[in-house]
This record gives sequence, structure tokens and C-alpha cells, in this order.
Amino acid sequence: MIKREPIVASSREILIKQDDCYREINADASDLAAYALTEAKDPERKWYGRYHGMTVSPLNKEKVFSLSPEMAFINSIAPFAEFGVGVAKMECHHHYRLHTDWDRGPGINMLLQSQNSFCAFVDIDSDQTVHMNYQPNKLYVFNTQVPHTIFNFEGERFLLTVEFEEHKQVMPYQGFLKRLRREQKLTGSLSLIE
Ligand SMILES: [Fe+2]
Repeated sequence: MIKREPIVASSREILIKQDDCYREINADASDLAAYALTEAKDPERKWYGRYHGMTVSPLNKEKVFSLSPEMAFINSIAPFAEFGVGVAKMECHHHYRLHTDWDRGPGINMLLQSQNSFCAFVDIDSDQTVHMNYQPNKLYVFNTQVPHTIFNFEGERFLLTVEFEEHKQVMPYQGFLKRLRREQKLTGSLSLIE
């Protein structure tokens, strides 16, 4: 039998930090959420790219900016890709395995509808996890380069999500936060993140 040192659970340092996984944007995005959910539920809407039970569909960027000055501001400092703002639908009983996104650094996400689902970040080396604690009508900067997973147990899950023109090599998560802090300071009035 291998002898091991006794583990003192309380002394284990938390290595995965919530702020390194996601940041809440300080704004009420309820008008945008209502629009995006209505669009997502339009029976005429076309969905693309079935992947891990998820499909996506683009939204009209100008409409998004008119409903959310915060999104317009973010786009002015870090442009969204051509079809870079859309809704993602996850079917009932689907699971998106633990992954990092292919080329995105940060994303901007807002959960539009969920009956019983969760999203979590994982530090694989320490077996620690952070719950992506989506609150209604709130936008989040989401670090797609921390391994994350989604489980959906009930109903369709709808998420608003953004892809930037600049990918992870040019604009990583921390670089984006730095840019956002600098640019909001220049406005003298905006306070989207601390
Ligand atoms: Fe992802």
C-alpha cells in the first residue's frame, strides 16, 4: 500500500479565480434580452452549424446597438465580426464537453432562456471549478480559453453571444479587459467593469 501524506482540505488554495473566467458588465440589458429571445423563438428563423447539440443564428447588429449602448461602445473599441452577434440554441438533454474555443479570446454572453442547465469553468490541473453564474438581463465577458462545459437537462437553452474580429492571439481575455478599462476611463462617465 502506498503511504500518502494526510490531506488537509481546508489548506487547499483555490487556484481557479472567477475573475479570470468571467466578468459581469455593469448594465441593464433587458431590452436587448427581450429582442434577442423573441428573435430566437421566431419559427421562421434559420439555424446553422449543428455542433455538440448547439446551433447559431445571427442577429442584426444595428438593432443590437440601438437597444444596447454598452454593446455599441464595446463594438467601437473592439469590433464584432461580420456575423459576430447572434443567438446560440442548445437542445434539451445535450451536453457540450469540456473544451476551449477554437480561436476566440473573450466572448460577450447573456443567457436568454434556461430551465435547467449549467455552464462551468474547470481548472484541469487542480480539479477545481467555477460556476458561470448567469443572472437575467446581464451581459458577461466570458473567457473562452478557460476549459468550460455546458449541460442542458430541460427545454431549449438560448444564449446571446458575440464573436470579435480580433481572435485570441491579438486580443486575449485580459487584453480586452485592459482595453475596456482604459477606454471607459476616457469617456469619463462609463463604468462597465471595475
Ligand atoms: Fe465554448
